[in-house]
Amino acid sequence: MRLLTLALTLALPASAAAQPKAERVESKGGVVVCVSPPAADIGLAALKRGGNAVDAAVSVGFAMAVTWPEAGNVGGGGFMMVAPPGKEVRCIEYRETAPLAAKVDLFADGTVTPLDHRAAGVPGTVRGLAHAHKTYGTLPWKDVVLPAVKLAEDGFAVNAVLAAGLNRVLADPKTTNAEFKRVYGKPDGTRWAAGDVLVLKDLGRTLRLVAEKGPDAFYTGELADLVEKEMTAGGGLITAKDLAAYRANDRKPVHTTYRGYDVYGPPPPSSGGTALAEMLNVLENFDLKAAGRWSPGANHLVVEAMKRAYADRARHLGDPAFTTVPDHLVTKEYAKKLAGGIDPKKATPAATLAPEIALDKESDSTTHFSVVDKDGMAVSNTYTLENSYGNRVVVRGAGYILNNEMTDFNPRPGFTSTTGLIGTKPNRIAPFKRPLSSMTPTIVLKDGNPFLVTGSPGGRTIINTVLCVVVNVVDFKMSVEDAVSAPRMHHQWLPDVIRFEGVKEHPELVKRLKAIGHEVTEARQGDAHTIWVDPKTGVRVGAADKRLDGKAVGE
Ligand code: DON
Repeated sequence: MRLLTLALTLALPASAAAQPKAERVESKGGVVVCVSPPAADIGLAALKRGGNAVDAAVSVGFAMAVTWPEAGNVGGGGFMMVAPPGKEVRCIEYRETAPLAAKVDLFADGTVTPLDHRAAGVPGTVRGLAHAHKTYGTLPWKDVVLPAVKLAEDGFAVNAVLAAGLNRVLADPKTTNAEFKRVYGKPDGTRWAAGDVLVLKDLGRTLRLVAEKGPDAFYTGELADLVEKEMTAGGGLITAKDLAAYRANDRKPVHTTYRGYDVYGPPPPSSGGTALAEMLNVLENFDLKAAGRWSPGANHLVVEAMKRAYADRARHLGDPAFTTVPDHLVTKEYAKKLAGGIDPKKATPAATLAPEIALDKESDSTTHFSVVDKDGMAVSNTYTLENSYGNRVVVRGAGYILNNEMTDFNPRPGFTSTTGLIGTKPNRIAPFKRPLSSMTPTIVLKDGNPFLVTGSPGGRTIINTVLCVVVNVVDFKMSVEDAVSAPRMHHQWLPDVIRFEGVKEHPELVKRLKAIGHEVTEARQGDAHTIWVDPKTGVRVGAADKRLDGKAVGE
């Protein structure tokens, strides 16, 4: 392929780093990296008991439902990528589903808020983790669930990040659900501080039922009845029948190659794998490395690739059971055409990229974890409640927080705004449909072996966080901890503005981007717990992102 050389190469002065340095761990054996230290330890313990990467990942998934209530969950959903050594990479998709009673205009008039019972989709996490375990796990099911039961029943010490998060959500006047306040409030009514112990009895009982009776216990019988009761009392939509009907899907990932690496990401109903592949395919037409990591040339191209992929996301992507996603989005030919349309000296106005879409005027939390075991099995998992603490409703008696994933559907049919609200058809609400996600748990292989395992929270910024980590490692040969720490950039087509973590560190870059027509604002981005495997030595290097308080552990 012909490499286009960049017109805008410029060496910029190095400046002080503003992002926290990622924590590095190295091991020849297994490595686990996630946001919650006690959950990382539980993943490592599963590996040490002889479990594989999926056993560890399932243990971490259940543990974080206890120790990271912002986003760890059994009441939400997500995507787990699994690369077993020598076998096909798969995506276990356990995205929430719209209940039967959901209507296309649920959010159209703005009366249903993200904290409404109606914002919850049917949870997928327990089915997803169970599917992963049944397909790949080697430890008994109970062994991977019970550590979470113990954490919930006996309690665990909250750290400063969790204490701050809990204090914030409890102090917010919008948090009105009495059960949420009872369960997550400090029993003496004071503010949480690091070292305080959080006990979650009802959640412990729910998890114990799941551990002892299997995943059906979550979707049928007593626990399903508790959800239906909660929904009846709170005016929600989910019924016991909706829960009984829920299935996780085992899907073929989106695959592309990038400069000799094989990149695998989640397929629809996530937009992540498709948009990531589209952006990488576009960028492969340029020599980013020659331009330099913080050059206006390289960053302009990255942003132009982002805009085009996000315009296609709005145009085409949704649940594949309801909408046809065109194959051309991830082809090299299409990417070449897109690359040819980029003016190297001028920002393309975003609205011109999808002229057929009429435009009107007008937080955190998800969590990602990565595991590679001693035999080279890799797991990349991102799951979420959508907003921090979901819809802030705890199912009475069952003790778990519900998601507000229904807000990931396009809220107002036909209404796409320059501020970023999307109303296109592929992602409108329908019964049993899954909302479009941006979650992008990613596995990069080199010659069939794991090379990079990454992902992030951050809503629509997720795909671009992953893109930044991948180009940092592949194009710019950064160490994995530098790749994770480096300031990130985001453009999502609309609003037509770049968000950049490095505004203070790279003022000259910002100036040059503005000079060619980009608008730039400052924003923090993502939490990318990543593992890199040295292709020469096989050593696994975990990098825990410290934008929150991640932990990397190794055997
Ligand atoms: O699936 C999605 O793309 C969103 N529900 C993810 C939400 C998220 O990442 C929130 N914050 N960090």
